[in-house]
Amino acid sequence: MSIQSHNSPPPPCAIVIFGANGDLTKRLIVPALYNLARTGLLPERLTLIGVDHNKKTDAEWQAAVKDFLLGVLDKNGEALDEKLWGQVARRMIFLSGGDFEKVETYRRLSECLEAEDRRDNLGGNVLFYMAVADRFFATIARMLGEAGLVSSDAKGFRRLIVEKPFGHDLESARSLNACLLKYLKEDQIYRIDHFLGKETVQNIMALRFANGLFEPIWNRDRIDHVQITVAESIGVETRGKFYEATGAMRDMVPNHLFQLVAMTAMEPPVSFEAEDIRAKKAELFKAIHTLGLTDVVRGQYDAGAIAGTPVKAYRAEDNVARDSTVETYTAMRLMIDNWRWAGVPFYLRTGKRLNIRSSEIAIRFKQAPYALFRDTPVDELDADWLILRIQPDEGIRLRFNAKRPGPAMTLESVSMRFNYKDYFHQAPAVGYETLIYDCLTGDATLFQRADQVEAAWQLVEPVLKGWQGTNPRHFPNYAAGSEGPIAANDLLAKDGRSWRAIRILGGK
Ligand code: BG6
Repeated sequence: MSIQSHNSPPPPCAIVIFGANGDLTKRLIVPALYNLARTGLLPERLTLIGVDHNKKTDAEWQAAVKDFLLGVLDKNGEALDEKLWGQVARRMIFLSGGDFEKVETYRRLSECLEAEDRRDNLGGNVLFYMAVADRFFATIARMLGEAGLVSSDAKGFRRLIVEKPFGHDLESARSLNACLLKYLKEDQIYRIDHFLGKETVQNIMALRFANGLFEPIWNRDRIDHVQITVAESIGVETRGKFYEATGAMRDMVPNHLFQLVAMTAMEPPVSFEAEDIRAKKAELFKAIHTLGLTDVVRGQYDAGAIAGTPVKAYRAEDNVARDSTVETYTAMRLMIDNWRWAGVPFYLRTGKRLNIRSSEIAIRFKQAPYALFRDTPVDELDADWLILRIQPDEGIRLRFNAKRPGPAMTLESVSMRFNYKDYFHQAPAVGYETLIYDCLTGDATLFQRADQVEAAWQLVEPVLKGWQGTNPRHFPNYAAGSEGPIAANDLLAKDGRSWRAIRILGGK
């Protein structure tokens, strides 16, 4: 991963994309490959094989993804570099009419892989990418297994990328893991959580472990509580059908939010090797209390306005039931039972159609003793905050108290700021570059292990079950463009705390 430097291209290989005609392929995978070419991190010899049920020629597939890429670049005011594009598209083969459920598809795929390997000497290396709806994951893994395409004894590497959602609950995650592990070894499976592809998320480890300053105060002696917010201003867009079966909890919590918790709260690993980091994350998940219904709040957005533009209620979105009880917001209080964190609540919240897009991890330090200020006009001390901005305006802020100039002792909360963009040139990225590069080089650090995924589902399982049996009669309970339901405030108020405002940290 990025803590070690990326400086050499991965070995020659074939990348097989199931769902080659889909959104993910053109929006993220192909642009990420193009961005890897820009930084010289694409395999020197690469064959891209697209599998999808539609009928298309190689040239048509290539034109379709190229067209999309042109649009993406154009939006950023860039032109396509034909030479770099040539590195991505030097061999693009479309397995036309490739039904994922038919043995015939895998026979053709196998022949194609063999021919490409002979032609280009790819060392037998193949990365299979399941950019498909999750209902196909188990089928594709089984068919690949039965066709002998993912054997760990193959000449080169055989790896499989599994997209989100990984299961729908504990039972389905377990059965998907069991199916994958029947045909592949754990170290061949790369379960993606795209939040781990974000530089700011990876930087949490650098901040904590590459500095002498933070780790000694990163514990219950110094920290009062932690607030993790992933706020989105978008609604469910065209994904009503998916979202009706998913909801905010399944969509965001056991994966993205828990990964943020893990990066913030895990113990220091002994090395940056994948297994050492994953072991620390697994230990952390074990120490988290299983969530109960009283620890959690749910919400659903009503009509409202985002940045002055009126938007409709969730129940009025396409492919959403008019009486839907699906949550578009959830907030929770999570407790970790270990020496570092016992007694320090982690408050998490995520929702759609909130006032702005803003993701951050805010660490609140304990307040200083007040005695010194007893004889001054200061009647209250603000506690200090360390804020890790995940997106947008990526950076880190430290808020602390300073004396306002003048004869009286008055305090004001001020901040020191580090902005990524002030220090680093940010190479164009869609967020999948590191993840794909890591798969190609066999670095599983940023991917989830089977036990982690199951542990995460286990933690939210009682809530999912509890919600299933109750009807949230108060839905919708927050206006689009607000900061979420009132009940979320009550969750913190019970502990004598309050949420930070959801806002851009631009100014002070
Ligand atoms: C996805 C969820 O995993 O993450 C979406 O399915 C959500 O509902 C998205 O919008 C958020 O990711 P990002 O990178 O845009 O913050």
